Amino acid sequence: MGKDVIIACDFAGREEALGFLDQFTGEKPFVKIGMELFYAEGPDIVRAIKARGHQIFLDLKLHDIPNTVKSAMAVLSRLDVDMVNLHAAGTAAMMEAALEGLTRPDGTRPLLIAVTQLTSTSEERMRGELLIDRPLDEVVMAYAQNARRAGLDGVVCSPLEAAKVHQVCGADFLTVTPGVRFADGDVGDQVRVTTPARAKEIGSDYIVVGRPITRAADPVAAYRRCVSEFVG
Ligand code: C5P
Repeated sequence: MGKDVIIACDFAGREEALGFLDQFTGEKPFVKIGMELFYAEGPDIVRAIKARGHQIFLDLKLHDIPNTVKSAMAVLSRLDVDMVNLHAAGTAAMMEAALEGLTRPDGTRPLLIAVTQLTSTSEERMRGELLIDRPLDEVVMAYAQNARRAGLDGVVCSPLEAAKVHQVCGADFLTVTPGVRFADGDVGDQVRVTTPARAKEIGSDYIVVGRPITRAADPVAAYRRCVSEFVG
């Protein structure tokens, strides 16, 4: 379990996504399907990518009343995905309902990961608009602990926060970390970034890498570079 590179397949449609994955003839990367691709193509794109043998992180960040999230999670679980997520802000009741919905009749279920505070939310906006009057990293750690108590498997966080999450929630609580860039690559719109090698040192369990792989001149070589830096 863990220590893997997840490619963020942020493509607008099926053709681009499958065309991109066609380049991987020697390996089957773990892929993340987000809102854009899922809303464009629906569950069929999940089935198509799964049928090619990839593990899938379905990044839909659910947040609704417990009963609705439970039913939605049951549908996602039947798609045979490997990892799904929700917003910890939905409270423990919602997270527990999500786990129930996800659990298949045979007792298996996808990993369930919580978003704490989105990395696009600044402390200033959190205080001013969400009226949460605490330091951001205290809020992130408290939400992570709440997710752990509700029985979730881990959180999405910055690789720079992974060590602290492990300290607070335990070494086996998974950290799934976007914001990864090669030392010699473009940062783009990400702010708090680190390299795959450094993410490994800090203790990330999974790194989520999009543009450094999807927009590379040679995506397969870029993926292999990530794997060799992060997994070794
Ligand atoms: O292209 P890039 O490597 O920046 O892609 C990172 C992926 O991780 C994107 O799909 C982005 O939506 C996602 N993500 C993120 N930061 C978060 C949560 C998800 O960058 N806090």
